[in-house]
Amino acid sequence: MWGMAAQLTDAATAEIGEYFAAQPAAPGKPAGAAEVAAGKKIYEEGIAAQHVAACQSCHGKNAEGNKTFPRLSGQHRDYLERQMEAFATNLRVNASMHENSKNLRALQISQVAAFLSAQ
Ligand code: HEC
Repeated sequence: MWGMAAQLTDAATAEIGEYFAAQPAAPGKPAGAAEVAAGKKIYEEGIAAQHVAACQSCHGKNAEGNKTFPRLSGQHRDYLERQMEAFATNLRVNASMHENSKNLRALQISQVAAFLSAQ
C-alpha cells in the first residue's frame, strides 16, 4: 500500500479522498450478540479502570466520524483489530490512539471491533 500511495501527487490524494468521502457507508456485517454488546459498552463508556476513553467522544455517537476522526462503523473487523494492535505497539503512530489502545486486552479489542463492524 505504501509503495502505491507514495507515487500519488498531493492533488491526486485529495481527489481520491473526496471521492471516497462522498460514497455512502455500506451496512456492517453481523457478529455475536454478546461480543457486540460488550464492545458497545466499551465504545460508549470506555473502561475507566484501564484508563481507556470512550471512543464515541472522538469518533461520534454512531461511529460515523468527522473530518479529523475516521468513521469506524461498518469497517472490516480484522482491519479494525489490526489497527488497534498497531496503535498499541506504535507500529502505526498516533498519540491519541496509542493512549486509547495500549491498555486494551486482546478480547476487548475483538469485542469493540465486533461492535463497530456490525454497525
Ligand atoms: C481522543 C480522541 C480519540 C479517542 C477517544 C479514540 N480515538 Fe480512535 N482515532 C482517533 C484519531 C485522531 C484517529 C486517526 C489516527 C490516524 O490518523 O492515524 C483514530 C483512528 C482510529 C482507528 C483507525 C481507523 C482507520 O480507518 O484506520 C481505529 C480502529 C480507532 N481509532 C478505534 C478507536 C477505538 C476502538 C476507540 C475507543 C477504545 C478510540 N478509537 C478512541 C482519535 C480517537
